[in-house]
Amino acid sequence: MKILDTVIRVGAQRPFTVLHASDTHLTCADERDDARKLALAAVRAACFPEAEDCLRRLTALAQNEGLPVLHTGDLNDFVSFANLDASRAFTAAVDCFMAAGNHEFSLYVGEAWEDAAYRAQSLDRVQAAFTNDIRFCSRVMHGVNFIALDNSYYLIEPWQLERLKAEAAKGLPMVLLVHTPLYSAETLAVLRQNGRLRPEEPAYLMAVPEQEMRGYDDHRYRQQLADGTTREALEWICAQPLLKAVLTGHLHRDFEADITGTLRQYGVGCTTVRRIRFV
Ligand SMILES: [Fe+2]
Repeated sequence: MKILDTVIRVGAQRPFTVLHASDTHLTCADERDDARKLALAAVRAACFPEAEDCLRRLTALAQNEGLPVLHTGDLNDFVSFANLDASRAFTAAVDCFMAAGNHEFSLYVGEAWEDAAYRAQSLDRVQAAFTNDIRFCSRVMHGVNFIALDNSYYLIEPWQLERLKAEAAKGLPMVLLVHTPLYSAETLAVLRQNGRLRPEEPAYLMAVPEQEMRGYDDHRYRQQLADGTTREALEWICAQPLLKAVLTGHLHRDFEADITGTLRQYGVGCTTVRRIRFV
C-alpha cells in the first residue's frame, strides 16, 4: 500500500488530517452465496490480489494515527455475504465516511445494464453495511463540510442536486466526495498524458462533453452520456466558491487535476492511501 501525503487549503478552523482511499475492490465470497458468485470471486480476486491486505493496512493506519477514512467507493467488487461482512467490520473498526461506487451494487460484475432499477435490487442490503447514507450525506469536521455524493452511474439525480445546493446554504467551505471524477479539460489532458489514455478511449469521467465522446463505443456512450441535471450539477459545482476540493476514485490511478482555476480534484488508485492535511 502506497501512502501519498497531500496538503489542501480549504480554510479549516484548525489544520486536521484524514485518509482518502478508494476502489479497494474486495472479492470475498463463501458458501452462503451460489456457485456462480464463487466462480466470479475466483476470477475477480486475480484482478485485485492486494485488496484484503490493503484494507487491513488502511484499518491499522487509521487506528494507529486516530484518523477518519474518506472512502470514495468500490470498497466491494460485488455484492456478497462475505464482502458485506468485511464492510461492516471495517466501518465498525474505523470512522469511515463513504460515497458509493458503481461496484457497490454489482450483483455479478458486468452482467447487466447498471441503472437505478439495478441498484435498487441491492441498495438496502449494501447500505446496511455502512454508517452513513452512501448515496448522499454531509458531515462537518473542523468547520469544513464534507459531502458524499453517489455519482457512480455518471449521473447526478435532481434530489441530489437540490441537497447539494442546500449544503452550500450552510456557508461553510465544502469538500465533495464522488466516485466518478468530474470532467474538466485539464483532467482529460492529464489522463491522456504519456498516452495512458488514448483519444479514442472513453475517459470514465462524469459529464464529458459530447464532442469528446466521438471515439466511445455505443455501450460506453450510452453509459457515460450526461443528462440535463448532471450537466447542471457540474456547472453549479464549477461556479460554487465554497467548494474547495473534490476527492474521487474510479480510474484506479493516482492523479490530480484542476476542474477550474480554484477547484482541484484528487484521485487515488486501488492500493494508494492519500493522507490529506486540510488547512
Ligand atoms: Fe473501481
